[in-house]
Amino acid sequence: MELLQKKAIEVLNKNWKGNFSIPCANLYPFQWFWDSGLIAIGFAHFDMPKAEKEIETLLDAQWENGFIPHIIFHTETDTYFPGADFHLSNLHPQASKKYKSTGMTQPPVTGFVLEELYKISEDKKATLEFIKRNIDQVYFNHEYFYHQRDPKNEGLVYIYHNWESGTDNSPIWDDIWSTMNPPEYTFERRDTTHVDPSERPSKREYDHYLHIIEIAKKYHYNDEKIMELSPFLVQDPLFNAMLIKSNESLIKLYKLIGGHDAKIKQLQLWQNKSIRSFNDKLFDERLGVYVHYDLRNEKSLNYISSSSFSPLFAGIPDKKRAESMIKIMMDKFGREDQYLCASFDPSSERFNPKKYWRGPVWINLNWMLYRGLVQYGYKDIAERVKKDSIEIIEKNGFYEYFDSRKKVHAEENAGYGGHDFSWSAALLIDFIN
Ligand code: DGY
Repeated sequence: MELLQKKAIEVLNKNWKGNFSIPCANLYPFQWFWDSGLIAIGFAHFDMPKAEKEIETLLDAQWENGFIPHIIFHTETDTYFPGADFHLSNLHPQASKKYKSTGMTQPPVTGFVLEELYKISEDKKATLEFIKRNIDQVYFNHEYFYHQRDPKNEGLVYIYHNWESGTDNSPIWDDIWSTMNPPEYTFERRDTTHVDPSERPSKREYDHYLHIIEIAKKYHYNDEKIMELSPFLVQDPLFNAMLIKSNESLIKLYKLIGGHDAKIKQLQLWQNKSIRSFNDKLFDERLGVYVHYDLRNEKSLNYISSSSFSPLFAGIPDKKRAESMIKIMMDKFGREDQYLCASFDPSSERFNPKKYWRGPVWINLNWMLYRGLVQYGYKDIAERVKKDSIEIIEKNGFYEYFDSRKKVHAEENAGYGGHDFSWSAALLIDFIN
């Protein structure tokens, strides 16, 4: 285990670029929002100044309206498509003047990451000072979500692009692609020069991705216009669970700091409303798990994915509901011949165990699942999630995602996508400490 930890530290140090980290070389050469948050948790175990800098750099790119972009383009490189020149974030009047970025965001992990840093810290006083300096920006980000992304004022925020979900090519989005018919764009993919195309989204999927960005750009990333016109408008359980988890952390941290009663009160109001709506609207009684809601077409997207279990991490279901969800997870995703936890329902015909978010196991979702299971008292299953996560990394290396079928690991390398991937390393460190 010591050797594995040593290797994980090497990966993180290699991907460190002076004041932020890249997720991995070539494939993702800039700073990504939720990657950065999770990477900071890894650094916190052995290099707190880097953990803090990672978050400070991320927050430094915040827009004047509280929005935090999903990619911050710190350097010029043409190894990534679509790069800064495609996104043109400067079209938005309140975009960062300092950094080029995208005009979409990613799951809001920053709140709970601040709390994780505090918990890990051996110098709580110094870490609390760091948190004091940065927490208001995270609060401002949550305010942005509740003011700009919750049109029905129900405490559930929407995402307008699959890249905002973090689960980029989930089969869930197929239902939305079937409502669209974008032009066939001409462009040069870069991801498929770094990674086997069978492990990445298709050309046609990219047409859809680009089309939504074209609409947003046309209206200068104006939130009202996006809300009115984006063909993709989804209330995502993973995204909203991250927001709820982060609200809870902000409440705890503000209490620790003292003297922020108005903010604590507001966070509590958001929190109560969010949890209520989440349970009422995003739970599918027939499937017995949480699902996505397509706000554009006003219908639930009834599929089971690893996002369906993420509400455990945020303490959203009651005990009874949690119990039945976990049973469903074990029946479908947790058989002896499978590694926990596939990113999409292995019994679905849309399942593909090699292709990005259409089936492979991801360490970040496993880490959340582990935490959720521990909180609800499912120690044995939690231990299995941890053991599986460590085992697939030990067998294959620090890949971006892994095959969920055990037999494939016995025969060949079953790690896919980017290699020496930062959050796989960071969360491995957290798992074993
Ligand atoms: C990619 O390029 O696949 C990224 O995940 C987009 O955020």
